[in-house]
Amino acid sequence: MKRIGVLTSGGDAPGMNAATRGVVRAAIGRGVEVFGFQHGFRGLIGNELFRLESKDVSGIITQGGTVLRTARSKDFMAFAGREQAMQILTENGIEGLVVIGGDGSLAGARKLHEEFDFPVMGVPGSIDNDIPGTDFSIGFDTAVNTGLGAIDRIRDTAHSHDRVFVIEVMGRRNGFIAVEVGLAGGAEAVLIPEVPYSLLDVCDNLRSMRLKGKRSSIVVVAEGAARAVDVKDFIQKNTGFEARYLVLGHMQRGGSPTAFDRVLALRLGAFAANRLISGFRGEMAGVDGGKLVSHPLSYVLSTERMVDPEKLLLVEVMAQ
Ligand code: F6P
Repeated sequence: MKRIGVLTSGGDAPGMNAATRGVVRAAIGRGVEVFGFQHGFRGLIGNELFRLESKDVSGIITQGGTVLRTARSKDFMAFAGREQAMQILTENGIEGLVVIGGDGSLAGARKLHEEFDFPVMGVPGSIDNDIPGTDFSIGFDTAVNTGLGAIDRIRDTAHSHDRVFVIEVMGRRNGFIAVEVGLAGGAEAVLIPEVPYSLLDVCDNLRSMRLKGKRSSIVVVAEGAARAVDVKDFIQKNTGFEARYLVLGHMQRGGSPTAFDRVLALRLGAFAANRLISGFRGEMAGVDGGKLVSHPLSYVLSTERMVDPEKLLLVEVMAQ
């Protein structure tokens, strides 16, 4: 392999730049040229490519977002769009592609591989941490720490006013972020889409905590479970406690990546590039118990990753 491409796709995640750096420097180290496509698959279809030299990835390890830019491409979802993408890859002499992104982006990579027998490697980049085949996806740790910083601040004001605060975090259809920030932030309740919950039970618990002397409470809600404003209204109406809510939203996607995310991303990016150059294809790089692993995209995309129920139980025990 003489020339490979790299792109970031879907929602950006802190650490994507470190992953790009990992891909670029590992490939150049093996004498392979790297081209970056801007705006993910949309830019691939639109031939938005540029050569990436080693110096182009200097200093990006500290930056949030993705210098390659990203997008969610509707055109790439159609076969005609993917044919166009293949043409661009062929015309530019690109023999393999590293795709950094979440499950939708990895599904796009899988299609290129299966429909055109094109060599691809996936790198899991998503704050949601819902990608099977890896213990962590790039950006999760940073998003959790960003959410935690917000909760710690809210705790101060909640406590001063004897209030209940409902905080909505991202995570799409999953509760990985919610459970992690809930545990780390000492939340009194965490609501996630994967596990049924009763708001009446939440209210009962908040009432009994007040009776035991707890003056303020934090309820963390995953965006896929409920809207924070609805939970806040329900709690206020049913308990009579003064309540407020906060939707953290896209701020969780920004900011300089944590050391954990930087190292994870560098390792995954370099590993993916090395495997691609060595002839492996149709896989996603991941970590399992700290060790680098690689799984077929077909396996990754047909498996579900579940929140650890022990963690959710621990939230309840700790809230007593
Ligand atoms: O997948 C990452 C994520 O941030 C989810 O947590 C969230 O539901 C979604 O992307 C938001 O997408 P958009 O940036 O397109 O609004």
